Amino acid sequence: MKYDVMLCKVTDKKQLTADVFDITVSAGDIALNAKPGQFAHIYIPGKTLRRPISICEINRKEQTLRFVFQIRGEGTQMLAETKRGDVLNILAPLGNGFDLGDTNRKAVFVGGGIGVPPLLEAAKAFGNNAVAVTGFRNKSSIILKEDFESNGIKVIIATDDGSYGHHGVVTDCLEDLDFDVIFACGPTPMLKSVCNYAEKRGAECQISLEERMACGIGACLGCACKLRKDGREYYGHVCKDGPVFDYKSVVWEGR
Ligand SMILES: Cc1cc2nc3c(=O)[nH]c(=O)nc-3n(C[C@H](O)[C@H](O)[C@H](O)COP(=O)(O)OP(=O)(O)OC[C@H]3O[C@@H](n4cnc5c(N)ncnc54)[C@H](O)[C@@H]3O)c2cc1C
Ligand code: FES
Repeated sequence: MKYDVMLCKVTDKKQLTADVFDITVSAGDIALNAKPGQFAHIYIPGKTLRRPISICEINRKEQTLRFVFQIRGEGTQMLAETKRGDVLNILAPLGNGFDLGDTNRKAVFVGGGIGVPPLLEAAKAFGNNAVAVTGFRNKSSIILKEDFESNGIKVIIATDDGSYGHHGVVTDCLEDLDFDVIFACGPTPMLKSVCNYAEKRGAECQISLEERMACGIGACLGCACKLRKDGREYYGHVCKDGPVFDYKSVVWEGR
């Protein structure tokens, strides 16, 4: 894992919904080394722990990274107050990222809420071989639809209240799709149901997990998670061994 700490200038900032913000930073070599599905650990002045935020888009030509985040507490509230021209202290790229394999395969990207942004850069690699199935609470919380579509990716949306697209959960929308591989990120109940579906279909499936983090680089036990390999269970780190895992290696107990 090759990561760096860098002072990154905010080059663009937008508000996507009532509580979701979109910032782009100038990130030099970090942008050149980043992979889809990796994350950044962002320093928030006055807070001891950095905040982990996934890389939403990588622009290697402009050497920029895009982050899309939701206000959840004080740290993300402060991040949302960042202005264009401000400088963020960023430790990145962290984690393993998605293993894309052959991008000529048919891929389905399943995202729930703020779990959608980490999927965009990976889906772009598959272009029109990708379908994004994304779920939100309601119409006003939908994000990134046009970003997928402008990259040739078909988007299917489900909302909890039926105010847009399919009234129900994302997994309802998978039934009629033809695909070879699933990439997913979102709340735990959604991930569990995507994994059950992958098992039933016998499909390859990679999921991105969230865990509270301290160091972000595998040096503490802040993000321990139970994993399985060759029938044996052991503890790994979401920050270093993940955040992306083959669904078969995740032990859900306690989650
Ligand atoms: C690998 C990874 C990628 C993520 N990517 C994104 C993203 O792209 N967009 C986005 O909006 N959110 C993302 N999150 C969640 C984001 O890190 C938390 O919402 C954020 O840290 C909350 O900080 P806070 O100070 O606003 O909230 P508080 O609740 O005040 O935070 C208190 C502490 O708990 C930690 N914490 C709280 N909630 C979470 C959480 N869900 N996951 C991890 N740590 C948490 C904080 O980092 C902080 O150390 C990601 C989390 C992980 C682990
Ligand atoms: S956050 Fe320290 S080991 Fe993962």
